[in-house]
Amino acid sequence: MELHAMDLYIKSLIKEAGHRIRNSFVSDITIETKSDANDLVTNIDKEIEQFFIQRIRRDYPGHRIFGEEGFGDDIQDLEGIVWMLDPIDGTMNFVHQKRNFAISLGVYENGTGQLGYIYDVVNDDLYYAVRGEGAYYNDEKLKPLIDTSIVESIVAINASWLAPNRYLDHEAAIRLVQTVRGTRSYGSAALELAFLASGRIDAYVSMRLSPWDIAGGAVIAGEVGAVMTNFKGEAANLLKQDTFIAANPSIHNIMLSDYIRLK
Ligand code: IPD
Ligand code: CA
Ligand code: CA
Repeated sequence: MELHAMDLYIKSLIKEAGHRIRNSFVSDITIETKSDANDLVTNIDKEIEQFFIQRIRRDYPGHRIFGEEGFGDDIQDLEGIVWMLDPIDGTMNFVHQKRNFAISLGVYENGTGQLGYIYDVVNDDLYYAVRGEGAYYNDEKLKPLIDTSIVESIVAINASWLAPNRYLDHEAAIRLVQTVRGTRSYGSAALELAFLASGRIDAYVSMRLSPWDIAGGAVIAGEVGAVMTNFKGEAANLLKQDTFIAANPSIHNIMLSDYIRLK
């Protein structure tokens, strides 16, 4: 795989897709729900996924595509080259706020992330990485994460896990919120990973993420030393939904042992 040629190709593809998304702001969009009333999808999510897939199939025949909206391939394994795409991560923000969403794309070769991209469309901010060459925020090289402590950390977590629920020990999660310096919730897993990679937050936890939510961000955050696992401490799953924590390496273990506990 010629990573540098692909990197240039993908950057231009992502910018073109971003342009199309920004243009959609002046037209009517169609909003539907998926698994529940809060799980939204629009015609733009679908159109953007189809735009990527058409181009990738034309220019990289033989590569497979794992896309959220289902227009790609039926992916059951990670053999060969697999593009993992979320055309709009943070659709609820896209619909309600017209900001705080991103295009997320990762390219994996036999299960190893080689290229990662998170494009904050409205701010025209691109986070990206080529494996082994560091991560970038636009033209700026991101620094390796420096050690921190729980009390000095900003943690991204959804407030719903602080209420009694069937899956997570909410009392431990409340202790986390009381212990850390601050909490945030941006509503886009991809942006939360980009913010972790750029040192703006120190950890991000989610009860349920899909491969396309994390594929791009895992390559980027991995390049600056973030640790990413499920809540059992196992490697992040790139074939199915799972729990997910990405953190500064100095707080990953303590987050899992003391604060983020499955019931
Ligand atoms: C969602 C966002 C959200 C996360 C959800 C994802 P979508 O992606 O990343 O922050 O909490 O689990 O499904 O549906 O907007 O692409
Ligand atoms: Ca998503
Ligand atoms: Ca999406």
